[in-house]
Amino acid sequence: MQILVLHGPNLNLLGSREPAVYGAATLAEIDAQLMKMGADAGTPVACFQSNHEGALIDRVQAARTDGTGFIVINPAALTHTSVGLRDALAAVAIPFIEVHLSNVHRREAFRHHSYFSDLAVGVIIGLGPDGYRLALDHALRHGAADRGPRPA
Ligand code: DQA
Repeated sequence: MQILVLHGPNLNLLGSREPAVYGAATLAEIDAQLMKMGADAGTPVACFQSNHEGALIDRVQAARTDGTGFIVINPAALTHTSVGLRDALAAVAIPFIEVHLSNVHRREAFRHHSYFSDLAVGVIIGLGPDGYRLALDHALRHGAADRGPRPA
């Protein structure tokens, strides 16, 4: 089994993008830590970022047949807009945790709604990069249990 970490639009700019909101860590630093956590636990972690909704949907669809058993996803702005990415996650029926670096509930009202939270195993919001690490720790320890029967 491998674990897939997905990052949505503009997260490639972490480190320089609104550091007061999103922190100083770069995406490369976050991904390196997650891949090391996976390697230490004997579970491969694959990371993918895109600014394109369709590329993220394609990557979720590919996860159906590439051995992915769990997904950690920060859909970024697509959290609040993308029925398509939500439908892809529902279609592949791979359990996932939704992560947000910032506390979206302390921010603008349009960030308060997520198209993903009701499908997610859990949601981690506002803890910065720790959120990814906590989500991955859960996936490594409990991921198999979160996985329900896959639809035929
Ligand atoms: C975000 C919150 C979203 O509202 C925003 O569009 C992002 C990042 C977060 O990690 O805090 O791009 O998902």
